[in-house]
Amino acid sequence: MSDTVRIIEMGPRDGLQNEKIPVSVEARIAFVEALVAVGLSTVEVGAFVSPKAIPQMASSDQVLRGVSHVTGAEFHVLVPNEKGYDAARAAGAQVVSVFAAASEGFSRANINCSIADSIERFKPVLARAKADGVKVRGYISCVLGCPFDGEIKPKAVADLARTLWDLGCYEISLGDTIGVGTPLKAREMLRAVKAEVAADRLAMHFHDTYGQALANLYAGMEEGVRVIDSAAGGLGGCPYAPGATGNVATEDVVYMLEGMGMKTGVDMEKLLVTTNAMSVVLGKPPVSRVASALNAKKIRNS
Ligand code: HMG
Ligand code: MG
Repeated sequence: MSDTVRIIEMGPRDGLQNEKIPVSVEARIAFVEALVAVGLSTVEVGAFVSPKAIPQMASSDQVLRGVSHVTGAEFHVLVPNEKGYDAARAAGAQVVSVFAAASEGFSRANINCSIADSIERFKPVLARAKADGVKVRGYISCVLGCPFDGEIKPKAVADLARTLWDLGCYEISLGDTIGVGTPLKAREMLRAVKAEVAADRLAMHFHDTYGQALANLYAGMEEGVRVIDSAAGGLGGCPYAPGATGNVATEDVVYMLEGMGMKTGVDMEKLLVTTNAMSVVLGKPPVSRVASALNAKKIRNS
């Protein structure tokens, strides 16, 4: 295995979008600043979606503006349509992410339109982004199962990946939104997608609902994928995906990769401090197994 993995930190967006306790703009900015200082130089910081749909992501423009002084980092934001693109650009976005689903049921629940209609909404976003020199990442949700439609065929994921790639997305992030995948299914799905989009243009965005995310990531790394979306502390989930819990925890991913001799550039000690600070804001301990283990060790040694 090549020894470089790029982590895209999801904490401030996917991580906070499902939290009941509102997190202030100041705390969101401080979270992003701390994550970059930890060594996580690519961070998804917010979403330009309807504040009625996802109130937690309201004021993402203020968050993006608030971190504009941070150098050496790349900030991503979600945009579902041209309205979101306009707002994201006005706030200075240089990288935006469109998000589609491999299942009709989730597409309807999440963004209130069919898969085909979502592609039509993305077309002007991608055309304008190209003209503006803005990079566009493409997500596909429910690649290993849908809370509404059940099993998803790898071909459905592969076809949609091809469509997003042909539209001009520079990378396709494959979301196991409800964390139901298992390693051999993840491998089968990735092999189908790789026939359409090269492995070095793919990312894995696996939620850890059933505790399978690390095993699925390992299977995906064996298929040559080297970009991993994860969230500090294992925060995350989508309010429109019943049963979905957090992203795979950044601590758990870093521990696994470094244990395998791969370099992540992440300072685990500082990451733990950052995760613990957000856990105080949210009033609950982190779900990350590695963060819990390191916190317990600290208490034992103190
Ligand atoms: P819609 O109702 O079809 O849109 O919603 P509409 O164009 O009919 O507009 C309805 C209202 O939304 C209007 O406001 C618009 O102005 C407003 P009103 O007149 O009612 O006051 N609106 C917007 N406001 C702000 N920003 C916008 C925007 N667009 C319309 N960009 C829409 C369609 C997509 C907007 C809506 O369904 C929505 O915002 N959904 C949120 C979806 C979302 O953020 N989900 C979570 C993120 S995806 C995820 O977590 C999965 C991922 O992590 C990968 C994985 O795990 O699988 C990425
Ligand atoms: Mg997600």
